[in-house]
Amino acid sequence: MRLDKFLASMQFGSRKEVKMMLHHGRVQIDGTIVKDESLHLEPAKHQILVDGESIPYFEQVTLMLHKPVGYLSANEDPRHPVVTSLLHSPWNRYTFHIAGRLDLDSEGMMILTTDGELVHELIAPKKMHYKTYRVTCDEVIQDLSSLEQGVEIRDGNEQPFVTLPAKVRILSDHQAEIAIREGKFHQVKRMFASIGYTVNRLERIAIGNLSLDPQLAPGEYRVLTENEIQELKS
Ligand code: URA
Repeated sequence: MRLDKFLASMQFGSRKEVKMMLHHGRVQIDGTIVKDESLHLEPAKHQILVDGESIPYFEQVTLMLHKPVGYLSANEDPRHPVVTSLLHSPWNRYTFHIAGRLDLDSEGMMILTTDGELVHELIAPKKMHYKTYRVTCDEVIQDLSSLEQGVEIRDGNEQPFVTLPAKVRILSDHQAEIAIREGKFHQVKRMFASIGYTVNRLERIAIGNLSLDPQLAPGEYRVLTENEIQELKS
């Protein structure tokens, strides 16, 4: 890849701005200042510094993020802070797909990935992996068995929709876990509402076989390992 193309793809500006950066000697490759924008290199094989900051390059990056309440599952929004604003350099230089959105007031595990195939794998209706949520309700939870059969809710277009059987587990008077394979608008809240419960806290604790890393506080994230990506797909 050409050096100017690489730097532009890593959000350092237009090809023209990058050319100026190089001209001013701000870029070092393996310890040497490089000014030639047409240099061809394999970015993953070199140490590239811009203004002294290392810019590691990865062909694909997949992150697990602990989404806090109040952040929108989007790359940009005029009104609310977005999950990608939680990322620091170099990760904020990549363009991520969000695999499985969460409501503004929901929290928990999100997968951000540059890998289009992985997104497809995680959200394609046919492949739908279970997503597990911890739900806190205002009311005392007594019986969730109808959620195991399927209930009728409205989808995002307000059309009637019968949910697939869910897996449920009551944890305490006000808390339960539910695993579903679909992702309709407000699905968990609407499923609980259909049987008379108001969800006041919703946390996603797992996607497929991969659980939210307990070391990640809300707002924190980390890179997934290759093994974890395989776990996600399995
Ligand atoms: N179901 C919901 O109701 N909200 C979410 O954010 C995720 C699943």
